Amino acid sequence: MDCKKNNVLSPEEMDRQFEYIKRIKKENDIYARERGKRRRAFVMTFGCQQNEADSEKISGMAEAMGYELTAEPAGASLIVVNTCAIREHAEQKALSVIGQYKHIKSKDPETIIAVCGCMVTQEHRVNEIKHSYPYVDFVFGTSSIHRLPELIIQRTESRRRIYCPEEADYLVAEGIPIKRNDGVRAWVSVMYGCNNFCSYCIVPYVRGRERSRTREAVFSEVEELVKKGYKDITLLGQNVNSYGKDSGYDYDFADLLAMLDTIEGDYMLHFMTSHPKDATHKLIDTMAAGRHIAKHFHLPMQAGSDEVLRVMNRRYTFEKYIAILDYITEKMPGAVITSDIMVGFPGETEEDFEDTLRALERAQFDMIYSFIYSPRRGTPACNMENQISDAVKSERFNRLLETQNAISLAKNKPLEHKTVRVLCDGRSKNNPDVFSGRTEGNKIVFFDGDDSDTGKFLDIFIERGDTFALYGKKVK
Ligand code: 5AD
Ligand code: SF4
Repeated sequence: MDCKKNNVLSPEEMDRQFEYIKRIKKENDIYARERGKRRRAFVMTFGCQQNEADSEKISGMAEAMGYELTAEPAGASLIVVNTCAIREHAEQKALSVIGQYKHIKSKDPETIIAVCGCMVTQEHRVNEIKHSYPYVDFVFGTSSIHRLPELIIQRTESRRRIYCPEEADYLVAEGIPIKRNDGVRAWVSVMYGCNNFCSYCIVPYVRGRERSRTREAVFSEVEELVKKGYKDITLLGQNVNSYGKDSGYDYDFADLLAMLDTIEGDYMLHFMTSHPKDATHKLIDTMAAGRHIAKHFHLPMQAGSDEVLRVMNRRYTFEKYIAILDYITEKMPGAVITSDIMVGFPGETEEDFEDTLRALERAQFDMIYSFIYSPRRGTPACNMENQISDAVKSERFNRLLETQNAISLAKNKPLEHKTVRVLCDGRSKNNPDVFSGRTEGNKIVFFDGDDSDTGKFLDIFIERGDTFALYGKKVK
């Protein structure tokens, strides 16, 4: 047995939830027979891929309970809002959407409205829901997703509102049904939680300590996805580089990747997110040797100033960060490297910020996700006195974008007149006359196509490389 420390939720607990699922399904089937239509469930998701993956489990359970999934909240019997807490803006968006559901409840008081996820894994937000959103039926945190069926039963039987406490142990729940939103790209969580406590970040407080799934569990999920025809599988974790350490496994993330890479088929493996403090040469060597592992590294740098990195508790210097990048480009020339950058961290001086701009020039990222620092209650940075004004933050943010946009353009230009392999996602949402897809490095490509191309790898001749996308034509 690989699992030295048992971090998996007991099978008895999962069986209990399946009993609730059966009971609800029976009732929903009777409703459907009597009314000639199924009860519907609507799941709204905010935030990162981990939340998307959690919502696919919520949808999977809802379907197993006999609900029909719908893309509209109006008319749904069950509404679940899966929230994010990473920045203030994400919380405000979720609260505003929850606010809009008041009229749904007043039209049909039988509608069950539940709020879950990172925002409501914080006590002050639970209190806010309790007092200011009285039509919300129940609230459950990130450790309790598997308890949705039980909470629905409790709510309908007791008529009392429920504020589900966090589980004392954050455990890995295996076997929850998953309803995937896409037939081509899939998420697979390899670990949950974070132990790093970067001083600005709420994640370790709302997602608990790190716990890794066993390689057998991950392997069989990925194998099944490849068999079903999924072409792009992204392994998820807040910090995949520490995979296995929490549970005392005698294999690490590189070993897991190498094992998954043995699965036969035409597919790509991506992963996110890596922490630079423990990105190893072994991992990079494994990627370089992989047959299916995309040559794409997302490695959040956050800042270019050593002092800012120190106060952020990132536990690496810029020099160390660059040494990893250099090793990646040495082993995988042409690899796409992307990053997360934050501006306006408390105490960030103009000089510190200029270090970040210089770092961008040195790193030559293909693309960055850029963020304005947002104070999160309960984190060390929130209480630091030297907070940066909004005006300075947004001025720096604009300069950051300007610098990176020029770099992104310069990285995309040389792809002109080259043929790249693209996984086709189908018609573009914004312009259904063109098709869109992504390269191995996750660059967006627009091209002429036809509906039968969806879900296929295509060769696209790039005619124009722009800042945010590539434009081309299918090689016939
Ligand atoms: N404010 C702004 N950005 C944040 N991130 C994490 N916490 C905060 C915060 N409090 C960013 C980091 C991280 C990404 C997922 O979100 O850059 O890498
Ligand atoms: Fe947050 Fe840092 Fe953990 Fe990433 S590694 S989730 S930024 S605490």
